[in-house]
Amino acid sequence: MTFQVNLMDYVDYVYMSNVKGDPYIPIWGPMKRDEFNNLLLQTKLLLPPMCGYTDYPYRKVLAQFGGKILCTEMIKAKALLMGTEQTLQMLMRAEDGAYTGVQLFGADPQIMAEAAIKCQDMGFSFVDINLGCPARKVMKKKEGGALLKDLPQIKKILQAVRKAISIPLTIKTRLGFKRDEFTALPLAQMAKEIGIDAMTIHARSIEQKYLGTPEWEKISEISATVKMPIIANGGICNGAIAKQVLHQTGAVAVMPGRSILANPWLIEEILHHLQGTPRGRPRTIQTIKEIATEHFSIMAQFYDERTACLNMRRFLSFYFKGFRGVATFRKKLPSMNTQSDFLFLLEQIEENHCREAK
Ligand SMILES: Cc1cc2nc3c(=O)[nH]c(=O)nc-3n(C[C@H](O)[C@H](O)[C@H](O)COP(=O)(O)O)c2cc1C
Repeated sequence: MTFQVNLMDYVDYVYMSNVKGDPYIPIWGPMKRDEFNNLLLQTKLLLPPMCGYTDYPYRKVLAQFGGKILCTEMIKAKALLMGTEQTLQMLMRAEDGAYTGVQLFGADPQIMAEAAIKCQDMGFSFVDINLGCPARKVMKKKEGGALLKDLPQIKKILQAVRKAISIPLTIKTRLGFKRDEFTALPLAQMAKEIGIDAMTIHARSIEQKYLGTPEWEKISEISATVKMPIIANGGICNGAIAKQVLHQTGAVAVMPGRSILANPWLIEEILHHLQGTPRGRPRTIQTIKEIATEHFSIMAQFYDERTACLNMRRFLSFYFKGFRGVATFRKKLPSMNTQSDFLFLLEQIEENHCREAK
């Protein structure tokens, strides 16, 4: 199957056919709010939005490993409404056996609401609002994490979007802007009143970016104070930790982040732990080779061979992280331009690893 279609046609098709009630709309489309809640309680696992990573091909990989609730990377609401090619590509999807939400970012309530309506009309399952991105270019415009300094503005955005859509609406945030601030607690109270369906909390501050031990006790405090579904995020890197965090914080679900980029099959492990049947798949160089090869082939079908190579350069660094004898392959990534370069590189990584492991 090839996905190389004209993006505008694709979006118009999904948009129009949804409006007309076309029977070919994916069955895994829009969700009712209570359906989302039930699924969350049942699977206890949400897959993360990851800028530059959770595009359609990678979400398909995540779905193959059992991910049931997936999210696009963060998408600028204004760009979505303008229909820029890059944005429309981020919105591409097809039937993949999972519910997919769109994560929006922006600070203008009206634009956010209009973009959310577009996502709903396109058949996405839910909308998530980014209130935690620490990237300078996002915060400079008072969007993402910068909004944690302005709760009244967040209120306007959430009210406008809630009013605009009937599908589930979630938010993803951090504990506070600075380490000693705890804005997530009043934010949770406000979100509950507005009718937000769930809140993901990355248990670090904006200033901490991705470093430092996650402060789980603060998530426990929020879960104990505010009766709304909380999803715990930050530092979840295996099934046992996922289970412990769920137990310790009273959150209803967990969201692993960077660990999923290195181990998409961690999804299976986490699901098994959370269902009380702990088991994991050993992370071997051969398993990673297989996953990377499958991932590459989905990317090449979806984009083209060259784009698949460019994107796979980023993923390979995560996939082979921590293996002996693979450090030298990084130098070769810039010259990986074709599928045969990619396959040859995988062979070399494996040979090198086996030689050094002896
Ligand atoms: C490369 C990268 C891209 C990310 N992109 C997004 C994003 O688009 N939206 C978002 O809410 N969080 C984003 N995050 C944050 C993650 O979703 C997650 O909250 C964070 O990595 C903490 O979890 P971890 O400690 O398990 O990695 C990103 C993180 C990384 C490392």
